[in-house]
Amino acid sequence: MRRTQLAEFMRRMEPDSIAIIASAPERTRSNDTEYRYRQDSDFYYLTGFHEPEAIAVIAPAHAEHKYTLFVRPRDPERETWDGRRAGVEGAVAEFGADKAFPVAEFHTQARDLLNGARNLYYRLGVNAELDEAIINHIRAMRARTRLYRAPDSITDPGVILHELRLVKSAEEIELMQRSADIAAEAHVEAMRAVRPGMNEYEIEALIEYNFRRNGAAAPAYTSIVGGGANATVLHYITNDAPLRDGDLLLVDAGAEYQGYASDITRTFPINGRYTEAQREVYSAVLETQLACVEMVKPGVTMGELNKRATEMLTASMVRLGLLTGEVEKLIEEQTYKRFYMHMVGHYLGMDVHDVGRYQVDGQDRPLEAGIIITIEPGLYIAETAENIPDKYRGIGVRIEDDVLVTPAGQRVLTAKAPKQLEEIEKLMAQ
Ligand code: GLY
Ligand code: MN
Ligand code: MN
Repeated sequence: MRRTQLAEFMRRMEPDSIAIIASAPERTRSNDTEYRYRQDSDFYYLTGFHEPEAIAVIAPAHAEHKYTLFVRPRDPERETWDGRRAGVEGAVAEFGADKAFPVAEFHTQARDLLNGARNLYYRLGVNAELDEAIINHIRAMRARTRLYRAPDSITDPGVILHELRLVKSAEEIELMQRSADIAAEAHVEAMRAVRPGMNEYEIEALIEYNFRRNGAAAPAYTSIVGGGANATVLHYITNDAPLRDGDLLLVDAGAEYQGYASDITRTFPINGRYTEAQREVYSAVLETQLACVEMVKPGVTMGELNKRATEMLTASMVRLGLLTGEVEKLIEEQTYKRFYMHMVGHYLGMDVHDVGRYQVDGQDRPLEAGIIITIEPGLYIAETAENIPDKYRGIGVRIEDDVLVTPAGQRVLTAKAPKQLEEIEKLMAQ
């Protein structure tokens, strides 16, 4: 049950409105087997309900049933196969619904539920089947105006919900810190374990073993474990190449703990010692990362952070001989994108790329206390890059931390994963 979150959502809804929020569908992996179920973040944020085939109806103006859950009913036979269901009784007793019904009854009740509401909060475009059913209910209501008054408008609940989700409460920050701690520990274990001759998948397995061992439900996204030049492929997830003496290993892996993501990248030497060339590239990324983290505070925009990262990394590209020319011009013409092609970070929360607007009224939105972002600059020098010093070929470095905006500045949630060259080498030498 998410009482405060649900109460705040209700408070922000327009008067005389109703919200319909659906659970995520189950998804087939192959033939008749499914991916492990993962609840829709909006639905989970409001309800804390973890089962599929559920619909929440939120009607603050309703005299008794302000919060109704439609859920899978108890079914001893199905539960023998798939596990316990909360059922209609549990939806009320364990999840705080004012009233609950079997989900099959949703459509028989939908018109009465919608009747008289001025506005319907419903996110179109996520579940085509439910979209169509709801449109059909509204069409039927419009055709029978003596019986029904159909909603005047349909708006996206995300307009309220995603703003709420963007700014984390104290309880959410605690969960995010735990998620970050679990991920940081996994990265430390990977640094300790890696040896030349191991395979990328061994490190992936070790990382994810550490997530599960500490109670995380799953990785928050597919782990990236790229040795050598694989680190220069931004979304490398094949993770099946041997790890070579003298190469770097880039690990981008985060945990999902009680619905909340962490997102960490560390880049460390497979044999425990950075080469001179690796050290130069790593230091350029690290100084940028530290400078951007330092900038984080209320009022700063992601645009400003991006600008700073781009300026510092482009200046480093010139210093290292990767690019030649005026830094300003290389930025204006976006030449720097040869070696740095993504943004410096993103919102982080229940979704790894979390919800919330980056722009408001056409302007970059200032950060505020309670927002969590990543700071993750990188340099990616392809093996095939032309006109560069040979020693940098195939080096990819990214350093990524999760940073909470505090009233006074920032707190790095992922500080337990070392990132200074000496710290990492010392840890790996033990
Ligand atoms: N791991 C996804 C990201 O860093 O954005
Ligand atoms: Mn990230
Ligand atoms: Mn990442």
